Amino acid sequence: MRKPIVLGNWKLNGTAAASDALVASILSGMPALDVVDVGVCPPHVFIPQTVHQAAHTTLAVGGQNCSEFTTGAYTGEVSAEMLREVGCRYVLVGHSERRALFGETNETVARKTHLALKSGLTPVLCVGETLEEREAGQMNAVVEGQIQAVLNEIGIAQFERLVIAYEPIWAIGTGLTASPAQAQAMHAMIRGVLSTQNPAVARAVRIQYGGSVKADNAAELFAEPDIDGGLIGGASLKAEDFLIICRAAADSLR
Ligand code: PGA
Repeated sequence: MRKPIVLGNWKLNGTAAASDALVASILSGMPALDVVDVGVCPPHVFIPQTVHQAAHTTLAVGGQNCSEFTTGAYTGEVSAEMLREVGCRYVLVGHSERRALFGETNETVARKTHLALKSGLTPVLCVGETLEEREAGQMNAVVEGQIQAVLNEIGIAQFERLVIAYEPIWAIGTGLTASPAQAQAMHAMIRGVLSTQNPAVARAVRIQYGGSVKADNAAELFAEPDIDGGLIGGASLKAEDFLIICRAAADSLR
């Protein structure tokens, strides 16, 4: 049985005070969710205060991105090791906004995944297709290519140590959610790709769905057999909605 994982991706939002208030509300409403892993990914500068607030709770903290380099003259970059040092457990790698707006290629993402694992973080490898790619029937090939680049870099055995987030780009921040059947089909496809190399790893790896997951659609998505929780953008900025989504993940185990 895979433990569902729900992560909030705050993106470029908030202030120190707003982050503080959001985390406090999440913590006050968080039930004993030891059946689900829950975490938030604040902007980097708010990570230390969030780690401090979440100390001695089950709320984990993650980064939204890390550098593909370890150290040196790379102005503006933050390494996986640094994120680990300030108390992160997770780091998102290859979010579609990073790929589309900041030029990250499959190879960049593979290097980041490698470094995140090396520094002891759990990478959350984000994959997903554009609407054009889906309409052209290329979605499986695109997502398979994104996975394959990481397989080439780290090998199948390491996949047990990461989380995959399938996020169709056309569903991110648009209010358009993939139907549970569409999401399930892609999650099963991803597991199938991994299974050709190692069926046990394919069964064990957790695959989140992301893209307009809301309080009112989370339960039906999480009910699908290959969907192991969600990566939540907009709805993670409201504690009440985020907590409903966390509870839906817990209830999906029943
Ligand atoms: P959304 O974002 O929930 O606002 O669609 C999800 C994501 O980008 O991770």
